[in-house]
Amino acid sequence: MKNMLNIITIIICLWLSWGRADGAQKRESGELSFHRIQASSLFPSLPAPCVLPPRVSNTKSSLHVVNRHGPCSSLSSKKATISPDHDEILRLDQARVKSIHSKLSKKLTARDRLSQSQSTVLPATDGITLGYGNYIVTVGIGTPKHDLSLVFDTGSDLTWTQCEPCGRNGTCYPQKEPIFNPSSSSSFSNVSCSSPFCDSLASQGRVKNCLAPNCDYGVGYGDRSFTIGFLATEKFTLANSDVFDNVIFGCGVNNKGFIGIAGLLGLGRGKVSFPSQTAMTYNNIFSYCLPSSPEYTGHLTFGSAGLSNSVKYTPISAVPYSASFYGLDIVGISVDDKQLEIPSTTGAVIDSGTVITRLPPMAYAALRTAFKEKMSNYKTTLGRSILDTCYDFTGQETMNIPKVSFSFKGGTVVELDSIGVLYVFNKSTVCLAFAGNNNDDDVTIFGNVQQKTMQVVYDGPGGRVGFAPNGCM
Ligand SMILES: *[C@@H]1O[C@H](CO)[C@@H](O)[C@H](O)[C@H]1NC(C)=O
Ligand SMILES: *[C@@H]1O[C@H](CO)[C@@H](O)[C@H](O)[C@H]1NC(C)=O
Ligand SMILES: *[C@@H]1O[C@H](CO)[C@@H](O)[C@H](O)[C@H]1NC(C)=O
Repeated sequence: MKNMLNIITIIICLWLSWGRADGAQKRESGELSFHRIQASSLFPSLPAPCVLPPRVSNTKSSLHVVNRHGPCSSLSSKKATISPDHDEILRLDQARVKSIHSKLSKKLTARDRLSQSQSTVLPATDGITLGYGNYIVTVGIGTPKHDLSLVFDTGSDLTWTQCEPCGRNGTCYPQKEPIFNPSSSSSFSNVSCSSPFCDSLASQGRVKNCLAPNCDYGVGYGDRSFTIGFLATEKFTLANSDVFDNVIFGCGVNNKGFIGIAGLLGLGRGKVSFPSQTAMTYNNIFSYCLPSSPEYTGHLTFGSAGLSNSVKYTPISAVPYSASFYGLDIVGISVDDKQLEIPSTTGAVIDSGTVITRLPPMAYAALRTAFKEKMSNYKTTLGRSILDTCYDFTGQETMNIPKVSFSFKGGTVVELDSIGVLYVFNKSTVCLAFAGNNNDDDVTIFGNVQQKTMQVVYDGPGGRVGFAPNGCM
């Protein structure tokens, strides 16, 4: 008995000294388990001027990425840069998530899916709601080149823009740049209904409609926004120099819900997506960096030029019922180096268009508990919209925000930027930027707040998605 106690004492002593050595080592190497951030970086004084990237990218296939509400966007009004409507952003984000969940739901029967598709008169590709928290790039379409601001979306395939003449009833929404007019471009051609591309669009369980000689299309985005038109081919010009002839895109003559933006650049996995169509040049590889705040500019780069050496990859997994989404397997989440108890791997998708990451209910609860524990020195405040864990940082000069890391399949651990953990309404309301799904079965979504400042790489031929820190400001 006495021996036993001795052994236990020794074990406890060893454990204590090991624990202390570990802590001391950490302090020596200067590595802290939290991020210390300055109030000024979290709350820039508004209206802030647009800050151009420090070095001009020398990759010709690189486009500037701007937040559509920020001062770098030609689309934003002065008012929008002073106060984006966060409640509206989060409301639309919830609509997008709801439509992704229903599209990828395991509970939908084959019959439900068929009747869903048949209720659309025109063939439709996978479409999803486009919230406000989105990022735009400028792409040149046609000859002469017509520059258009498109939102980019890794959750859908078809690139489209509004086209003149709009509908028989003038059904285009207002956009900032002049609407694209095919008759003033010498490189425009219609795609015929018998084209294999038209078939591939129709073959996604949808109904093909060849009443006109052209290939009609329709994409619904869940929240009643949509685009309807005909497929065409055009010359696309990226950053003034990379030129692609005969890119298939949607000429949308009846569109709703994307106010201000000329259309969408589809970056999904499907055949008709922009990376698939330009694979001969870019090998179906692209990367982007979403800026930390609206006054900075990020980038969307095609091809493998400029990829960081520190990219860590995880395999892309198939997403049931969707050929467009990039699937990931999240195997762990940690807060301050502490592994959370979360359900073993949940199917997830990475989405450039969802703002707030959605986790399984139990995983979110564990994250919230661990985060609150580390943030107990700060004054809490009421939750807003879908965010329920919020703090009042009034009067604070610096804040210590616990580090949050995600582990993906293949041993890839990705530590989020501190800006990727928080959603800032204003100084008196800063919230944990995660939310729980309603059901265990709902797909997990890795959203765009969490991706901020990282270089995110989509490597089609490698079948993998990668992350590297410090991709942009
Ligand atoms: C145009 O409007 C008329 C009357 O409002 C309607 O009957 C018709 O279906 C519309 N046509 C199109 C192409 O939307
Ligand atoms: C392409 O199709 C549209 C819609 O049917 C038609 O209005 C237009 O004249 C066609 N353009 C060309 C160049 O054939
Ligand atoms: C901060 O944002 C919250 C949430 O939108 C709002 O209720 C509050 O009035 C704002 N406070 C200030 C000082 O602007």
